[in-house]
Amino acid sequence: MLDHELRGAQGTAADATASAPTEGEAYKRYYDASVTDPDTFWGAQARRLTWITPPTKVKNTSFEKDNVSIKWFEDGTLNVSANCIDRHVATNPDRVAIIWEPDNPKAPARHITYRELLEETCRISNVLKAHGVRKGDRVVIYLPMIPEAAFAMLACARIGAIHSVVFGGFSPDSLANRINDSDASVVITADFAPRGGKTTPLKSNTDAALLHCSDKVKCMVVRHTGGQIHWTEGRDIDLTEEMRNAPSYCSYAEMGAEDPLFILYTSGSTGKPKGVVHTSGGYLAYTSLTHEVCFDYQPGDIWWCTADVGWVTGHSYIVYGPLANGATVLMFEGIPTWPDPGRFWEVVDKHKVTHFHSAPTAIRSLMAQGTEWVDKHDLSSLKLLGTVGEPINPEAWNWYHQHVGKGKLPVIDAYWQTETGGHLICPHPKATTLKPGSATTPFWGIKPVVVDASSGEVIEDTKTEGVLCIADSWPGQMRTVWGDHKRFEDTYFAQYPGLYFTGDGCRRDEDGYYWITGRVDDVLNVSGHRMGTAEIESALVAHEVVAEAAVVGYPHDIKGQGIYAYVTLMRGVEPTEELRKQLETWVRQEIGPIAKPDLIQWAPGLPKTRSGKIMRRILRKIAENDFGALGDISTLADPGVVEELIENRMNRG
Ligand code: WT7
Repeated sequence: MLDHELRGAQGTAADATASAPTEGEAYKRYYDASVTDPDTFWGAQARRLTWITPPTKVKNTSFEKDNVSIKWFEDGTLNVSANCIDRHVATNPDRVAIIWEPDNPKAPARHITYRELLEETCRISNVLKAHGVRKGDRVVIYLPMIPEAAFAMLACARIGAIHSVVFGGFSPDSLANRINDSDASVVITADFAPRGGKTTPLKSNTDAALLHCSDKVKCMVVRHTGGQIHWTEGRDIDLTEEMRNAPSYCSYAEMGAEDPLFILYTSGSTGKPKGVVHTSGGYLAYTSLTHEVCFDYQPGDIWWCTADVGWVTGHSYIVYGPLANGATVLMFEGIPTWPDPGRFWEVVDKHKVTHFHSAPTAIRSLMAQGTEWVDKHDLSSLKLLGTVGEPINPEAWNWYHQHVGKGKLPVIDAYWQTETGGHLICPHPKATTLKPGSATTPFWGIKPVVVDASSGEVIEDTKTEGVLCIADSWPGQMRTVWGDHKRFEDTYFAQYPGLYFTGDGCRRDEDGYYWITGRVDDVLNVSGHRMGTAEIESALVAHEVVAEAAVVGYPHDIKGQGIYAYVTLMRGVEPTEELRKQLETWVRQEIGPIAKPDLIQWAPGLPKTRSGKIMRRILRKIAENDFGALGDISTLADPGVVEELIENRMNRG
């Protein structure tokens, strides 16, 4: 019965969006099938893609220590861009693939059909090929939220090049590190990135980055604003002009299901950001399935995810998942609060958006502006709301549901990570009873377990609390860290052998619902942007006046978490307001504006154990303005340091 249902539900190109079971019972039955017999389940789901050679093997995965290996559909071949474009051109060439809404509300929007998407993508593929880019080569994409970002990603996928998108808010240094780590041969950028009425000079940032990269790296430039830029003959390529002259068709490469599709750098608790590697078949099957099912996406719906393509949400739920499903995707260049806090709702009304997916930090910042901005616009086109990126507090959830959703629309809280490719835990809009603040229950194929952090034991009780691990693989999972498989094993599989460790803490309630409580490692989530405290610390100590630095998070009303830095200056250096500003600017330059500390406390000394390890637990408590319960400080080398830090703490809220 179930097998028949599963097979009956499969579709290829034309009906790829027709397989969602809408009944609660069916949804749960699918879940049971997915975890009891993953081979049958995912073998059937693979058929939502158009394969060149359909896979005969489904799951071949091991979480075993020193032998972590993840392969899905390994003998299948396909092309991701053909799945996202060509098969829709064959059936619906004039359907709009991308609606682009520019930063400036007075500038015209663009509507790009699937046929045009094919042409633009092919033109970039042809330019890349003409400049020597081959299968397996790495291409860094450093672009604003413009359609060319999607074209460039798909153009890489088309010829089998591996893209690595770098968020436009990252500094030249961060860009250079990513170009060098992936040994990229091309970086695609634009002249300028307008956003919220300001502009970021992407080309000049790239010029600065390339000073630290190999001479062989070429720079392709999209003429976006048309502003004046510096030009390096022989290295810089005018992409806009070359696209005009390039052929509008390019055949697609046959790729193995396990060939890398992209690298995306993300922060961890130690060292430099790591290159998360996602591959082709499993990733696309998983993102297209989750996009369709978790958001109940129907043909004709207008899908808007407000993320930036520089983050994984943009990869999975602006580009790959929705386009694989033949969706109409809205892409927005601007920010929620410019020129006024009604911009999101104006855009929803203007383009008759049906699905709106955003982040808690955006919702909280709009909530703070009052409801008149929401009430001013007609939001009757909306059918569903989404939230992702960090735990959503029930107040924000309720405001979103009440004022944007008029008390009627489901709010889909999707919990996942760069590493997981797509959703791990999230409700189904028709099958799950929602609870504000909970991501609810696992998606098909996901086996969450709650582990006791001190014993490392899996806790069987339904109602419990601990760290969140996943017991088995799913097709969208990352495969390795670029160039460092050992780091992949050590980061995710060493802590709790046999399990994938998410780095998050969680609570599971009596109904089996999951409530993510945030990171348990030294990773911060600031406005939904993920940052390692170690990265910010090494940026700070790279400044000549800084002797030592420790960075922790503290609760922040809008951002979720704020960045709190304790800084010990070199002997003889005077702590001044001006120096504080200088250090803020320094971190912005080293990493990017998102890493700028919110609070810097001058720390004559840091609390350390006798063996010299910084006691972050204590620093976190002081930053949270919760120093009543510091716990055991008897192992401190110099307890007097703590008194001093409390005395001069920066957060007294
Ligand atoms: C971390 C992953 C998932 C795409 C965007 C962020 C936190 C993410 C939720 C949610 C509670 C969430 C976790 C996770 N997180 N979504 N719905 N509820 N926490 O991807 O940059 O890789 O960050 O974001 O802490 O580990 P990312």
